Amino acid sequence: MSEPAMPTERTAPEPAAPEPAAPEPAASEQPGDDRSIVRLRLSRRKQSDRKVHFEDFELPVDPESTVLDALLEVRRKLDPSLVVRHACMHGSCGACGVRGDGRETLACVTPLNPRRGHAIEVEPLAGQRPIADLAVDMVDFAARMAEVDLPLVRTVEPANVAELPEGIRWLTRFENCIECGLCLSACPVSGSDPKYIGPAALAAGARVVAEPRGRDVGPVLALAGEPDSVWRCRDVMECSAVCPAAVEPGTAVISLRRRIAGERLGRLLGRRQA
Ligand code: SF4
Ligand code: FES
Repeated sequence: MSEPAMPTERTAPEPAAPEPAAPEPAASEQPGDDRSIVRLRLSRRKQSDRKVHFEDFELPVDPESTVLDALLEVRRKLDPSLVVRHACMHGSCGACGVRGDGRETLACVTPLNPRRGHAIEVEPLAGQRPIADLAVDMVDFAARMAEVDLPLVRTVEPANVAELPEGIRWLTRFENCIECGLCLSACPVSGSDPKYIGPAALAAGARVVAEPRGRDVGPVLALAGEPDSVWRCRDVMECSAVCPAAVEPGTAVISLRRRIAGERLGRLLGRRQA
């Protein structure tokens, strides 16, 4: 087996290598070993560090490895100080969100696909306070979700009829939210305006409005109608593109905005007619 290289600090970013039409896997040099050599360029920063820097690691991995498998292998074999969050290992807890080669992703369900000469760059999610290395503090994110106060328990009796309400497919998609924060990281408005409540909380708000479960939706609509809320969204839809649970938060924001605009217009016209 080839000796794993020691981590080295990156001093200057290398120009991106042209993408080969059919990526050639980097094979391990050990005879009979079907593992591939993967190169990782990891964002590093401890709380005492003033700046983020990158460190390169190289190690053999099994063909079916995920990004999280490789990160944990780095921690086991090369650098036990690497900080990375994870829990369920199967894409349902939302803990392992990172940016891999600049794209928000759940590390535990993202295949590595190592390619010869390519170092996979892994960074923490954007838009949330970094803790160390690849881990971010999700407290602000959770506080925004709590503002919407999506009820976990119905306050009204469920209907006896077992018919699917109109639009159930959309509602089902929102139930899939795993609160991973990928949408917040990918959203260009969240990146430039920390006061923007963000796509996940607005999607939760749209969910409450669509199925109130006995709640007064007035406070949710008022929250969503504030200046730093639905009006700040620019319909870029990156949130929907990266969402691993098909929640489509971008569509939810647009639906909320339409609802609020419609109510405001209705009030205005009502006043004029009175
Ligand atoms: S809406 Fe999607 S991307 Fe955003 S927190 Fe929920 S599951 Fe994650
Ligand atoms: S570890 Fe739970 S979603 Fe990745």
